[in-house]
Amino acid sequence: MYLKRISLTNFRNHSETNLEFKSRLIFFIGNNGEGKTNVLESISLLSYLKSFRESDENQLLMWDSPFTFVKAEFEAGNEDYLFEFGIQNGPISKRKKIKINGELVKRISDSVGFFRSVILSPPDIKIIEAGNIERRKYIDAFISSTNSGYLNHLIEYNHILKQRNSALKKDNATEKEIEIWNAPLIEREAEISKERKRTIDQLSEYFYKNLISLSQGKDQFQIAYKPNVSNKEEHLEKLKRNLRKDLAIGYTSCGNHRDDIPIGFEDKDLSHFGSQGQKRSAVIALKTAGFQMIRDQTGEAPVLLIDDIIRELDVKRREYFVNLISECGQVFFTTTDLEGIKEYIGSKDLDREIFEVRDGKVTKV
Ligand SMILES: Nc1ncnc2c1ncn2[C@@H]1O[C@H](COP(=O)(O)OP(=O)(O)O)[C@@H](O)[C@H]1O
Ligand SMILES: [Mg+2]
Repeated sequence: MYLKRISLTNFRNHSETNLEFKSRLIFFIGNNGEGKTNVLESISLLSYLKSFRESDENQLLMWDSPFTFVKAEFEAGNEDYLFEFGIQNGPISKRKKIKINGELVKRISDSVGFFRSVILSPPDIKIIEAGNIERRKYIDAFISSTNSGYLNHLIEYNHILKQRNSALKKDNATEKEIEIWNAPLIEREAEISKERKRTIDQLSEYFYKNLISLSQGKDQFQIAYKPNVSNKEEHLEKLKRNLRKDLAIGYTSCGNHRDDIPIGFEDKDLSHFGSQGQKRSAVIALKTAGFQMIRDQTGEAPVLLIDDIIRELDVKRREYFVNLISECGQVFFTTTDLEGIKEYIGSKDLDREIFEVRDGKVTKV
């Protein structure tokens, strides 16, 4: 996976930024608030089709601009791709448009899996600290970034759930009006659970090994999957059993949106017992696991996006990082100064390019 060019038009504080990359290691340097993370955010859009830090897409449009446009050329599996991504200020259904090699994609999910990347950024610590909601979000984004079928199931599941919840909230809703959603919900639930389990089982193996090497054998933690319902029969039975309660609260109380993803050992979760150092290691081990899993499954290293995290790490964790980076394909970093570059790549003499970011303008150093 290799990003050759990217241009941003009215993307956050970048009115017009055109970049060409010729190296494996690319650094964006600049003070806080100049627009470095914005560049990584635009690159990760190509994989995740939405921002890694923002759920409101309107925030991606430069203030007062009617649209934003990102255009990228990359190489994947020895093929060249042109990816164009536009968001317009307007009704949700018409807002986002994606073209691949000049052709408009019909469904947004048809554009996943072309550009594969993994991002590591300071807010990732939430995945460990904030528990199941953030963990489900992470797992869903991770699977969806390479699996359009999963993304579709998820979109459908959420849509059906919303319909069922609206029916539950209605005054005088009949049981029939609610139960009509049960079968379609159960169908999607089964698909989503199957994929979550498959992915988490694999991710956990990588995670375990990474953590062992990050902690010199001390941290032996795993990621588990505890679905809220274990099969279709149980799901139906629970939907029926909970009907009274669901009507009272106006909400469907069982299903994938209640799955647990414990990280730790036995019944102890890192979010409760972990030290800051253990949590940081866990984030790195998890994101690296995602990177390794995509690499091993596709036979090609995804692009790695590293947003300003190295300073938070101690010497041992930095060493691990430097070794990881030498095994990677293309890596994009942000850092506030040139000293930061040494911390990322140690004393290794690797081919690199440096760009300076100032007030949404990027110049090659
Ligand atoms: N929609 C937007 N339009 C214009 N500027 C924005 C928008 N969203 C964020 N910004 C600006 O972008 C800057 C933050 O960019 P960011 O890439 O996070 O900085 P950093 O270099 O610290 O990583 C801030 O100056 C912020 O005001
Ligand atoms: Mg930043």
